[in-house]
Amino acid sequence: MNLISSTSSALQGEITLPGDKSLSHRAALFAALAEGESRIDNFLASGVTQALLDALTSLGVNWTLQQDGVLMVQGRGLEGLHSPQAPLNCGNSATTIRLLAGALAAAGVSAVLDGSAGLRRRPMDRVVEPLRQMGVNIDSTQGCAPLILQASPRPLHAIQYTLPVASAQMKTCLLLAALAAGGPTTLIEPGPSRDHTERMLREMGVNIQSEKQFSAGKPQYLTHLEPPKPLALKPLALSLPGDFSSAAFLIVAALVTPGSEITIRKVGLNSARTGLLDALLAMGAQINISAQATNSSEPVGDLTVRSSTLHGVDISGEQVVRMIDEFPIFAVAAAFARGVSTVSDAAELRLKESDRISKLCEALRMLGVDIQEKPDGFTIQGGRPLHGGSLASYGDHRLAMSLAVAGLAATQPVSIQGAEIIHESFPEFIQSLQSLGACLAPELQTI
Ligand code: S3P
Repeated sequence: MNLISSTSSALQGEITLPGDKSLSHRAALFAALAEGESRIDNFLASGVTQALLDALTSLGVNWTLQQDGVLMVQGRGLEGLHSPQAPLNCGNSATTIRLLAGALAAAGVSAVLDGSAGLRRRPMDRVVEPLRQMGVNIDSTQGCAPLILQASPRPLHAIQYTLPVASAQMKTCLLLAALAAGGPTTLIEPGPSRDHTERMLREMGVNIQSEKQFSAGKPQYLTHLEPPKPLALKPLALSLPGDFSSAAFLIVAALVTPGSEITIRKVGLNSARTGLLDALLAMGAQINISAQATNSSEPVGDLTVRSSTLHGVDISGEQVVRMIDEFPIFAVAAAFARGVSTVSDAAELRLKESDRISKLCEALRMLGVDIQEKPDGFTIQGGRPLHGGSLASYGDHRLAMSLAVAGLAATQPVSIQGAEIIHESFPEFIQSLQSLGACLAPELQTI
């Protein structure tokens, strides 16, 4: 699909968004491991969550997803999953493959975990190595998928492990395996990765403590998990907040489209996810937060965003972790901002759905943005008008959506090929922006 996005007049209106992607993955998988039936409201139906649901079917889990976004899951308990007949296809979803590796290790299931060509390029040694230390019989294919997991004797070994990078996917994989360990597990991270797993497992009765410490003047984030006795998880009853990472596209669209004022209701505002909000506020964005509450153990609120004159900002250190998925759309905001913006300490971006440093630089340069690539980030000299162009999506949903937002405030239309990839995380993206008055639509095919 070619998506065309054109200069738009003011965006106006109110919107609520589908459930958070990270929370949807966790809720479906953890519910499958629970004893009894779970109900998850506002579940995200998208490409990546479908990959997980299909894998759960192959593991013998019954679930139903209703039109209104309610997911019901019949939990099979931590020992009730079946070994699948065929390789589990995790599609494009790194969260699915990494979280499943930990869950299946805990469940003592043999399986082959595989996925798309894009997923096969993502690093898996970061979960394989610590799982092996826990006594899990797992092999990768030269550090990548397919992963081959053989049922391993349990209890698994309890470990203390220092993660080389702050990563919630790694942390969650290891915490799930740690449920079946013979003693307490401690994980140490260099940054504050999202803590949705800890909040959800606590709701399910697991004893998990989080702690921030300093070692040689540097912060460290510790997570301690005590395996439940007996080995059982309570089922979930959750209502998921709107995905902040999807809201990010609408926020920046409203900021850069003159005369706009939009309100996004019931968005997840977990501070491990809202680094972009802090960056935009520091750039002079007019964003008002209201109706703050805690819903199903997660902070939520409404965001009212008015178009704003932005100025450049510097992003580094822990803030990078708190906005790890938002750099493509941050770069669009920075391109429209006056002055220089810099991103440092963000080499991890090269290992996402695309090399998000080089592909972002390549794509934005084609729209006339003055952007320089660095090994661990980029520098943007903002404030030049963006012209249109015909661009690739690079098989990266967030890059495609960010380029579409750039087109709303560019001088000429922006066309994005392969834009169907957007379906992976935010199938309602086009419709949501259209409902606020944005000019974007799939290109009509002529026969
Ligand atoms: C995710 C964690 C992040 C993020 C991804 C989803 C998760 O990855 O990029 O989109 O749900 O745990 P890392 O924490 O591994 O960087």
